[in-house]
Amino acid sequence: MAEPFSIPATTVVVTGGATGIGRALAERFLREGAAHVVVADRDAERAQATAAELGARAHPMQVDVTDEAAVNATITWIESEIAPIDLWCSNAGVGRGQGLGQDSDWDTSWRVHVLAHVYVARALLPRMAQRGGGHLLVTASAAGLLTNLDNAPYSVTKHGAVALAEWLAIRHADEGIDVSCLCPQGVNTEMTAGDAGSAATRMGGEYLEPADVADSVVAALHEGRFLILPHPSVAEFERKRTADRDRWLAGMRRAWNKLRHASAR
Ligand SMILES: NC(=O)c1ccc[n+]([C@@H]2O[C@H](COP(=O)([O-])OP(=O)(O)OC[C@H]3O[C@@H](n4cnc5c(N)ncnc54)[C@H](O)[C@@H]3O)[C@@H](O)[C@H]2O)c1
Repeated sequence: MAEPFSIPATTVVVTGGATGIGRALAERFLREGAAHVVVADRDAERAQATAAELGARAHPMQVDVTDEAAVNATITWIESEIAPIDLWCSNAGVGRGQGLGQDSDWDTSWRVHVLAHVYVARALLPRMAQRGGGHLLVTASAAGLLTNLDNAPYSVTKHGAVALAEWLAIRHADEGIDVSCLCPQGVNTEMTAGDAGSAATRMGGEYLEPADVADSVVAALHEGRFLILPHPSVAEFERKRTADRDRWLAGMRRAWNKLRHASAR
């Protein structure tokens, strides 16, 4: 178990913080008493608008998380102008491609869902280690534990995000760095707004609201848990998958065929 993370009086950064799950996290951390929450997003206008709505302890920052120099500059600026960062939520994400997708879908998904976390780890974890510790939260997805039948670039790169979060949690624990990995299934955000007919949506069961996800995150941080599963069924599917991979694959094939035939009717 990681150390319980206590939010009051901390400085938190949330990437992809302008909207959706990121915005709900920012709002919830402020309600829990964070001293500063940086709403970091590539969309400068929306980051500005969200921070203005969230109040004086919210600070907007424009950053593209796939640009390593920009991530470094963001960390340096926040730590010199606001305060040392206690918790970085690496949450920005994109839904790109259908089926096997195009090379550009793989490239973007890889950069946003994997390399962006590497850039933060390179720049921020040594700073945190030097001052005795810190916390990194990686937003992956249930697609990174199970799979997303619609979209290989998304599913594969989210598996990468889970693997990277595990690697960091193992390699940096002795430096006082705690890592959590958030793996929700369907959540009502702009990313899923056009998903009504997708296999992932029809298989995924109940959609949660971003605020429900933020509740799960805060509870898991308090408990010092690595894996954050806002949908309890994901834990059950994950157990079945690891217990018998062939049986799980056969079940997924049946589910996929059923969905395909239903949508062909
Ligand atoms: N919505 C879901 O059902 C769901 C399920 C599982 C995991 N997730 C993950 O949760 C995270 C948040 O998703 P959401 O549903 O809130 O999506 P969203 O589309 O509502 O918000 C994503 C935010 O990320 C920002 N962003 C995208 N690329 C960026 C970049 N290169 N640099 C900086 N900011 C960037 C966008 O501007 C946007 O504000 C993502 O990592 C997503 O993959 C979402």
